[in-house]
Amino acid sequence: MFKYNCLNPIANVGLDIFTDAYEKTDDVNAADAILVRSASMHEMELSDNVKAVARAGAGVNNIPLEDCAKKGVVVFNTPGANANGVKELVVAGMLLASRDAIGGNAWVKENKADENINKSMEKAKKAFAGTEIEGKKLGIIGLGAIGAKLANAAVAMGMEVYGCDPYISVENAWALSRSVNHVSSNEDIFKTCDFISVHVPLLDDTKKMINKDTIAMMKDGVIILNFARDLLVDDDAMEEALKSGKVRKYVTDFPNFKTANMDGVIAFPHLGASTEESEDNCAVMAVNEIRDFLENGNIKNS
Ligand code: MLT
Repeated sequence: MFKYNCLNPIANVGLDIFTDAYEKTDDVNAADAILVRSASMHEMELSDNVKAVARAGAGVNNIPLEDCAKKGVVVFNTPGANANGVKELVVAGMLLASRDAIGGNAWVKENKADENINKSMEKAKKAFAGTEIEGKKLGIIGLGAIGAKLANAAVAMGMEVYGCDPYISVENAWALSRSVNHVSSNEDIFKTCDFISVHVPLLDDTKKMINKDTIAMMKDGVIILNFARDLLVDDDAMEEALKSGKVRKYVTDFPNFKTANMDGVIAFPHLGASTEESEDNCAVMAVNEIRDFLENGNIKNS
C-alpha cells in the first residue's frame, strides 16, 4: 500500500485516479509521495519515507530541489497542463489593458441608480475609450507551452508576434515557424514591441529581467504582462516607469505590494491556472506521474 499526502488542495478530480493500492495520509512524514500546488516546501524537513514530490503546475520554485536531490527524492512537474488557462488570462489581460472595461464596469455599477444615466453615457464613452490590439506588435519572451499558445491566439487576433526563446523545442519552433517572427535576443523585443509578455522560469539569469535598463530600451507607453513569476520584474524600476508613463500598463498575476494600487496596474492573485480544466489537467498528470514512478519506476517530467 502506497501512502500519499496532499499538501494543499490541487483539484477536484485527479486524486480519484489513485487506485486501492493508495491511501491518503495527513502525515507528511509517512507519505511515499507528496502532491503540492503552491504551498512552499522550503521550510520542510523531508522524511526518508518520501520518494517523490509532484508539483501540480509548471514552476518548481516552491520545492527545495537541492535538498530533494540530496535525499534522492524525485521531483515532478506538469508542463503544459495549465497552459491554456494561463494563456486565456494573458489574452484577457491584453484586452483589459487596451480597453477600459474595468473602469466602464465600475462606472455602471456606481451610476446604475441614476435615472439620467443615458445622458451621462456619452461622457463615459469618451472617458473609457481604448485602443485595439489588432495590428499591434506582441513580443513573447519564452516560447514554451504557454508562450506558444499565446503566440497562436495573438496571431489569430491579428497581432504581429515576435518571439525569443533560445531553448525552444523543435516541435514549437516548427509549429510557430510561419506565424511568429523569431528573434535572437530579448533586446529585439524590448525595442520593437507594443506589448511584452514574459513566459520564462525564475532562474538566476532571468530574475529582474524587466529592470531599469531593459525598460529604457522599450517604446514609450509599452504594455508589460507578467503571468510567470513576480521576481522577473524589478519593482522599483516598474514603479518609476509607471509614474513616468514609460510603461502605460502593467498586467501582473501577482499581488505586488509596491505597485498593485498604482494607476496603470491590473493585478490578479495568481489566477492564471485557476480554471477547472487546468486544475484537473495538472492533478491528473501529477497523479499519473506518481503512480508510474512508484509502480513501474518510470520517471517523466522530472
Ligand atoms: C505554475 O507554475 O504552473 C503555476 O504557478 C500553477 C499554479 O497557479 O498553481
